[in-house]
Parts: sequence; structure tokens; C-alpha cells
Amino acid sequence: MASSRSQETSSGSKRPRRKGLFITFEGIEGSGKSTQSRALAQHLRSEGFRVIETREPGGTPVAEHIRKVFLQPTRKRHSVDPLVPECEVALILAARSQHVANLLLPALQQGAIIVCDRFSDSTLAYQGFGRGLPLRELRSLTRWAAKGLTPDVTFLFDLPVSQGLRRRLNSTDVNRLDHETAAFHQRVRKGFLSLATQPLRRIHTINAGRSAQAIARQLITLLNPLLEEGLKTRRLAVKRA
Ligand SMILES: Nc1ncnc2c1ncn2[C@@H]1O[C@H](COP(=O)(O)OP(=O)(O)OP(=O)(O)O)[C@@H](O)[C@H]1O
Ligand SMILES: [Mg+2]
Repeated sequence: MASSRSQETSSGSKRPRRKGLFITFEGIEGSGKSTQSRALAQHLRSEGFRVIETREPGGTPVAEHIRKVFLQPTRKRHSVDPLVPECEVALILAARSQHVANLLLPALQQGAIIVCDRFSDSTLAYQGFGRGLPLRELRSLTRWAAKGLTPDVTFLFDLPVSQGLRRRLNSTDVNRLDHETAAFHQRVRKGFLSLATQPLRRIHTINAGRSAQAIARQLITLLNPLLEEGLKTRRLAVKRA
């Protein structure tokens, strides 16, 4: 059960103290989120931590089902019934509410480290800055769907849109967002950067144009103090051999 003690978030509000650590990866398409979240999860497991690697939209059976509807590439029927921005938000929030309630909160209470590929910042960047929906409402909706859960630390992978899209060309899993214009992806990138400039100390902007190894080393360096503090105060779950 959650302790009644609370800790201060970077925005100054109080939230229930939890034992685990919630790390999110954000950034435009092809910026290296999946590559780095896999590498970090592997590293943390090798250090003996209990790690849950997950993604949004998705992470539970129902949420993964919703992901398919959300990311389905444009086909003929989508040209007569394209997903409107409000529907995108509704799908994302439906998936997030399942993910938070049925996977993230229970795992955090048990002291796991969550490595999550995208979370609420993507909703603000894509549906807010990208689609033009009002940020204030999106913030409030996502807070509601996530039961107030916010990441402890967020790595924002930044690189020029053209570079990200070029990296995506090697991918076999073409999705609906691959059909968006470069201008849309530019707005999303700017949106992420603008979120990172707000006084949210949790967001670290990572230069994603460097080698995967250099980035992985930087993430570990940034995380080490949190892990050490976590082992002392948060009781992070460490697997026994
Ligand atoms: N630092 C890097 N340098 C060069 N190529 C990279 C780097 N990191 C990842 N890649 C390659 O770029 C492609 C996209 O990487 P990845 O799938 O990790 O990005 P992503 O941010 O998860 O993309 P998406 O948003 O589409 O899921 C992959 O082919 C990956 O191998
Ligand atoms: Mg990915």
C-alpha cells in the first residue's frame, strides 16, 4: 500500500511517496528512444535491479490493442475516416489509464525501476504542439488519466527532424506518423524543447546525434545519483541472485 508520506515533485506539488523509479524516454521519431531504453534496461538488470521495460501507447494487453488502432498506417478507409486530433487524445488517454493503473503504479509500489518509451510529454508535444490542441486541457486530461503519476526523470532525445526521419527509413514497421509532414515533426520537436525549458528539472535534453554508446554512457552518469539515493531512501527492488 502507498505510504501516506509525500515527496515534492519538480513542479512543487505533493504526491504519494513511492518506492520505485519512473524513467521516461521522449523525442521525435527515430531519435533513438527504443534503442536507448533497451540498452538502459539491460544495464540496470545487469546491476541487479528489477526493471520493467514498457512503452506508450501500450504496455498492457488492452493498451497494446489501442496502440494498433492509433498507429495503423494510413489505408483507404483512413482517408474517408482519418483519426481526428481529439480521437488521438482519447485513444492515448484510454491506453495510458490502463497502463498506469494495471502496470506502472503496482510496479512502482513494489520498488521496480520503470523504463518507459514515451509518456505524457509526448501527448503535449504531438497533440498539443503538433496538432494544435490546447495545452492546458491536455495537461489536465493527462494528469487525470495518469492518476497524477509523473516521471522521476525524463530523457528527451533531440536531433534534427531530417536526421530522425532518415534513421526511420531503415525501419520495417511503418506507422501512421511516418506519413506526417516534416513541418508537423518540426512543431513536435520544438514542442519537446519548449517543455524542457520550463522549470522542470526532471527533463534532461540529450544530444541524440551522437553515437549510441556515448549516449548510453551519459544516461548512466545522469542516473547514478538517483539510483544511489533510491537505494538509500526509496528501497528500489534489487533482484536476489
Ligand atoms: N545514436 C544513434 N546513431 C545512429 N543510429 C541510431 C542511433 N540510435 C538509434 N539508431 C538507429 O536509428 C533507428 C531509430 O532508432 P530507434 O528505433 O531507437 O528510435 P525511436 O526514437 O525509438 O524511433 P520511433 O519514434 O520511431 O519509435 C534504428 O534503426 C536505430 O538502430
Ligand atoms: Mg521506438
